[in-house]
Amino acid sequence: MKKKVLVTGGAGFIGGHFVQRMMNRYPDYHIYNLDLLTYAGELSKHKNMEKRENYHFIKMDITDRKAIMVLFAKEKFDFVVHFAAESHVDRSIINPEIFVRTNVLGTQILLHAAHQNKVAKFVHVSTDEVYGELDFDPTIFFTEESKLLPNSPYSASKASSDLLVRAYYETYGLPINITRCSNNYGPFQFPEKLIPLTISRVVQEQKVPVYGDGKNIRDWLHVFDHCSAIDLVMHEGVNGEIYNVGGHNERTTLEVVKTIIHKLGKSESLLEFVKDRKGHDKRYAINPTKLEKLGWIPNFSFEIGLTQTIQWYLDNKWWWNKQL
Ligand SMILES: NC(=O)c1ccc[n+]([C@@H]2O[C@H](COP(=O)([O-])OP(=O)(O)OC[C@H]3O[C@@H](n4cnc5c(N)ncnc54)[C@H](O)[C@@H]3O)[C@@H](O)[C@H]2O)c1
Repeated sequence: MKKKVLVTGGAGFIGGHFVQRMMNRYPDYHIYNLDLLTYAGELSKHKNMEKRENYHFIKMDITDRKAIMVLFAKEKFDFVVHFAAESHVDRSIINPEIFVRTNVLGTQILLHAAHQNKVAKFVHVSTDEVYGELDFDPTIFFTEESKLLPNSPYSASKASSDLLVRAYYETYGLPINITRCSNNYGPFQFPEKLIPLTISRVVQEQKVPVYGDGKNIRDWLHVFDHCSAIDLVMHEGVNGEIYNVGGHNERTTLEVVKTIIHKLGKSESLLEFVKDRKGHDKRYAINPTKLEKLGWIPNFSFEIGLTQTIQWYLDNKWWWNKQL
């Protein structure tokens, strides 16, 4: 029988690429893209698939318990890959409540529906931010055993959801995996996140805000490499296991912003240092050895990935202009 895959948050940045990957690589699967279409979700990215009989879009809120239970009972999904979330740290500092509702309650509702309907695999897409921050010692990385020490309402809500996922494995035996990924970049990322924000500002010759001294370090991963990791975990991951996803592409925020300014041939006078973000983590860096042992190989160097991403934003101004 054909497999049914529920992708939550498939109208967002990473979930959107994951839906495309599933449709392209597994023509036998039926892909159900469930999304509430918040400010971060939009469907123009899936125009190429709308008419395919194995693509289904469902507009639904993951916190709508009744609707979710009815859907799971009807469709009997084989896989659930859970991306839907409030995902922007700055928004979580201003309005934490929606992060608890969507990221914690929404995840619990999905887990319960998955358990009740005997889903064969539930993959929960989480973040390295649940581990808190590292100092600047370049020999230290997050591993799957690192403590959960989240610092922002966003990362705290994701860590809470991770614990619920673990609990559904330990208590009910739901076959789960958790993936924890570093910062993603690539086409179709909402222009509130660092790389698309910087590109859109520089293209328009507007000031680019940089928090604090810009020395915070992030480990950048191309969204295609993230999606290949989730695909692998979904099919090969050992039940109950956590997998960290990262590509050893550590850069300071200032390096990233300056590189974009230079690649676009503009002046560093566009840089504007602003008051630091509250609870701003110093450094994230991932040790992906466990996932590599499962067979994951990232394809993108940061230099090539960033150049291609800049080109995509230049070629698709219509897309990000409508998001501003
Ligand atoms: N972007 C990153 O760098 C990054 C890194 C690591 C982990 N993650 C995680 O990956 C996942 C996807 O991130 P993203 O950057 O694609 O996020 P995004 O903000 O681009 O997309 C989130 C999607 O979820 C949908 N959504 C929000 N609330 C919903 C609800 N109540 N019901 C149904 N749908 C809802 C939105 O409409 C949107 O389409 C998130 O869980 C995030 O925590 C992201």
